[in-house]
Amino acid sequence: MYKVVLKATTMAHNLIKSVVTDGDLVVDATLGNGNDTIFLSGLTPNGKVYAFDIQDEAVVKFKKMIADENINNVEVINDGHENIDRYVHDKVKVIMFNLGYLPGADKSITTKKETTLIALEKSLELLMPGGLMTVAAYIGHDEGAKEAEAVLDLIKSLDSKKYSVMQISFLNRNNAPFLVVIEKNDNCRVNK
Ligand SMILES: C[S@@+](CC[C@H](N)C(=O)[O-])C[C@H]1O[C@@H](n2cnc3c(N)ncnc32)[C@H](O)[C@@H]1O
Repeated sequence: MYKVVLKATTMAHNLIKSVVTDGDLVVDATLGNGNDTIFLSGLTPNGKVYAFDIQDEAVVKFKKMIADENINNVEVINDGHENIDRYVHDKVKVIMFNLGYLPGADKSITTKKETTLIALEKSLELLMPGGLMTVAAYIGHDEGAKEAEAVLDLIKSLDSKKYSVMQISFLNRNNAPFLVVIEKNDNCRVNK
């Protein structure tokens, strides 16, 4: 028997697995230690992962790691995800946001409401019909709580004809991260 009620980032992985096929273009909007990027890279060996981070140290470390491991389907971009449209010009199947700061690193280098909202708006445009965006949001610190509220306000306002949106959150844990899942509706698909 498998456990199915899992932390936000694992729930995101499980949903993403069901939509990505090899050859797809996908985005990790917050590279950090690279766990999500490596996961995405494995789902689409003949496709491409665009991975963004503003933190030089994370980018340098990850670039070395993929060079050592001969992973060559990842483009690492040392820039903010709010500039995603400068780097990604084709429609993509998945965009992952794992908000907040890198555990064990400088907590002041965290995603911020203003830039996150810009990135989300641009990312919605880049998503292909049938594509999925996931946002793991952390409410356990001040900046994260403000950001999470703004993310929910934006996502709730999306036109339900264009997007199907869900929130997955623990109801019996304090300040646990929650997950928002946004699917760009594909009118050719039958909904169940
Ligand atoms: C929670 S961590 C991401 C964890 C990561 N996905 C992993 O698998 O390890 C959030 C990351 O977002 C990065 N970040 C903060 N602001 C950003 C921005 N504007 N654009 C891109 N990355 C940003 C931080 O440097 C940090 O590494």
